[in-house]
Amino acid sequence: MSNFLDLAKTRRSVRTFDGNMPDKQILDELKEYAENAGNPFGAKIRFVFLDADENKLSSPVLSGEKCYVSAVTKKQDRVDEAYGYSFEKLLMKAHELGLGTVIIGGTMPREKFESASNLTEGEFMPCVSPLGVSAKKMSVKESLMRKGVKADTRMKFEDLFFVGDFDNSLDEQSAKDKDLYNALEAVRLAPSAVNKQPWRIVIDGNKVHFYEKHDKGFLTPDYDLQKIDIGIAMFHFEAQMNSEGKNLELFTDAPAIAAPNQVDYIATYVIE
Ligand SMILES: Cc1cc2nc3c(=O)[nH]c(=O)nc-3n(C[C@H](O)[C@H](O)[C@H](O)COP(=O)(O)O)c2cc1C
Repeated sequence: MSNFLDLAKTRRSVRTFDGNMPDKQILDELKEYAENAGNPFGAKIRFVFLDADENKLSSPVLSGEKCYVSAVTKKQDRVDEAYGYSFEKLLMKAHELGLGTVIIGGTMPREKFESASNLTEGEFMPCVSPLGVSAKKMSVKESLMRKGVKADTRMKFEDLFFVGDFDNSLDEQSAKDKDLYNALEAVRLAPSAVNKQPWRIVIDGNKVHFYEKHDKGFLTPDYDLQKIDIGIAMFHFEAQMNSEGKNLELFTDAPAIAAPNQVDYIATYVIE
């Protein structure tokens, strides 16, 4: 991958499509990629490509889509983070191949998608995404939706990223001095449910600790949508670091750092 951040900067959620099935060659390439879209947690995610018309699938926030991919999994250790990581890995590949996507975790007739995905015993399907070429013009409902969640804005660097502990914010210049600016910017631009941006990061030497700031309304009996967001953020961080030639190792031992209310430790990348 050349520079992941450049790719991340050109991504946005797409909800208005051109009314065509994606090119077969591109779809085949994506299907092959999906077979190997792993994650550092080693959890298995099953991707199902679905013809919208054949399966009578639609979503109230979308128009012109002809194809979907759903992501199915089972209860296992760290599955939510793994799910976000692998799904975003696949969707960034789709973006690289010229397809628009948007992770949909709420605004869909869930049962129809679950049935089309042929869930087996113990499997669940937190999210789906349409796959298609973006229409030239956004639908009115798409622009209203973007305004509603302030989709074009992100929180400031200083409110998301910290050094040593949560009392010391990391500003952009210090991130540049630490050679971490691009990877953290790739995290900042990541998509999240209702654009809540629940990721918080504490840098401690060569350790990068990821935390989740919980909001109300994202927990279901099977999964936590905001943990899926953290997995997405972790993919963005790792992809940018890798494109800079840096390797990361993942640990899940909580550091002795006091976290604010509603903020939970998730995992640590150690920069080798
Ligand atoms: C886990 C997750 C669930 C989402 N669920 C929905 C959804 O149900 N409906 C929807 O229209 N967008 C959904 N989104 C898209 C977000 O609203 C979008 O990523 C956010 O507003 C930022 O906009 P951007 O992706 O264009 O940068 C979801 C995103 C994530 C990561």
